Amino acid sequence: MPSDLSPIDKAKFVAAKRAARFVEPGMRVGLGTGSTAAWLVRCLGELVRDEGLRFTGVPTSTRTAQLAREEGIKVIGLDEARWLDLTIDGADEFDGDLNLIKGGGGALLQEKIVATASDRMVVIADISKQVEALGAFPLPVEVIPFGWQTTKTLVEESLVGLDVLGRSSTLRMNGEAPFITDEGNYILDLHLHRIANPRQLSLVLNQVPGVVENGLFLDICDHVIVGHGDGRVEVRNINEGIVSTERFDFLEEENLFTDLGD
Ligand code: A5P
Repeated sequence: MPSDLSPIDKAKFVAAKRAARFVEPGMRVGLGTGSTAAWLVRCLGELVRDEGLRFTGVPTSTRTAQLAREEGIKVIGLDEARWLDLTIDGADEFDGDLNLIKGGGGALLQEKIVATASDRMVVIADISKQVEALGAFPLPVEVIPFGWQTTKTLVEESLVGLDVLGRSSTLRMNGEAPFITDEGNYILDLHLHRIANPRQLSLVLNQVPGVVENGLFLDICDHVIVGHGDGRVEVRNINEGIVSTERFDFLEEENLFTDLGD
């Protein structure tokens, strides 16, 4: 019930609601993971049920796949889809160049493969995810369990000489046990505080044996849809900046967007 939501959930909801309009009949659409992406899946489910929208979803995690099926969305795997029209996903941070940190939910590997296999990637986020420079959010790095402590040391050593403000990392836990990704791997969270050169960092990290992938999404995202707690939602394009601003009025009908102009 949108009117009962906290400001942060309202912001996520309006971003997701706006992003659902990017999905056209017949498209193959990558479905992201996380709380904002879950709003998207619910909004798309509504369009499937109420408006007969027919498209195929390619989920980026088992939990998104389950939710999509519950919402009545047709789901296939990436091997069947091969290439996608669009991926819509959340992010932990985005900067002015629409570069991202992702993986706070632990699904960065499938998310990166699916987003890279898409003609367009649209990120949906509340305004708190916007940053001047990436790195305040700990950077998730997926590593194989074998020898992970050695990999952790090598990852920390690989940061020497790079322009970051911290070099410690922690193994992500799920209670008393390591957090396990959908691919059976572990996650190291890197406490870098500020990343001056994301491109260099991404290349260096992926050279370390045992590292599967890192959570930097560089030159992958084309659009960011930014939600605000008061119902405003901005669509930003990598080439044009803010291309539209609309407002969702929670007191009126759920589907009402008011165009505030460009
Ligand atoms: C999942 O692994 C992440 O990449 C999420 O997309 C990211 O953490 C954003 O999640 P929320 O939408 O829950 O903030």
